[in-house]
Amino acid sequence: MIEVRDVAKIYGAGENITHALRGVDFTIEDGEFVAIMGPSGSGKSTLMHILGCLDAPTAGSYFLDGKDVSKLSDEELADIRKEKIGFVFQSFNLLPRATVLRNAILPLLYAGVPRERRERAARAALLSVGLPESHFNHRSNELSGGQIQRVAIARALVNDPSLILADEPTGNLDTATGEIVLETFQRLNADEKRTIVLITHESDVAAHAARIIHVRDGRIVEDGRNHARKSLHSHHS
Ligand SMILES: Nc1ncnc2c1ncn2[C@@H]1O[C@H](COP(=O)(O)OP(=O)(O)OP(=O)(O)O)[C@@H](O)[C@H]1O
Ligand SMILES: [Mg+2]
Repeated sequence: MIEVRDVAKIYGAGENITHALRGVDFTIEDGEFVAIMGPSGSGKSTLMHILGCLDAPTAGSYFLDGKDVSKLSDEELADIRKEKIGFVFQSFNLLPRATVLRNAILPLLYAGVPRERRERAARAALLSVGLPESHFNHRSNELSGGQIQRVAIARALVNDPSLILADEPTGNLDTATGEIVLETFQRLNADEKRTIVLITHESDVAAHAARIIHVRDGRIVEDGRNHARKSLHSHHS
């Protein structure tokens, strides 16, 4: 599904040049749950923006479902995002004064989905991440951190994406709430077979993924199966 070949990303020029990615190679199959792990400034968000068709690489190629997206126009990229990709950003980007339901509906509004279908999809997505129906009409500034994060995940799910990209989704949460959010991702992967790419600098968070790609200074330094995976059910046994 995802094939990244010798992708480089350079920001700026001259004295202000930054080599954010220095030639990365990997493939991710449909249904994988991969963590991309590395220290601050190692290129994780840059990579997520490229995987999410929000930005183009400076060099190299990126094939998504067999299509070379590094060659597409901005409009074609926008269509791919609407159709296939759900984003959970490093900052949640919820509208604080809008209701939970309204926040979850937003991506479909932009995509021009008819009203009834929008609302049905948003309700289903919110329920699937365990947000109680009694909260659907609360404003998002009236929610706990964990609930806000679940709304952000629901919002990433409303367009029924095959690929979910999450950048530090537990960065602002306490450990227990973070665990609940990570279990939500594990369930979306295990039960609904969605491909998940989770970006983090914490090994405890990466431990929930089946595979971990380590990046450092814009390069992949390690890529392998996570043998010490935290499983969905280990907490309940
Ligand atoms: N829009 C930009 N313009 C110029 N430089 C940028 C831009 N975005 C990122 N960079 C630089 O590229 C490098 C990689 O940044 P990136 O945001 O990908 O790191 P990161 O691994 O996500 O870090 P963090 O864990 O802090 O979020 C950094 O040196 C950063 O300063
Ligand atoms: Mg980042």
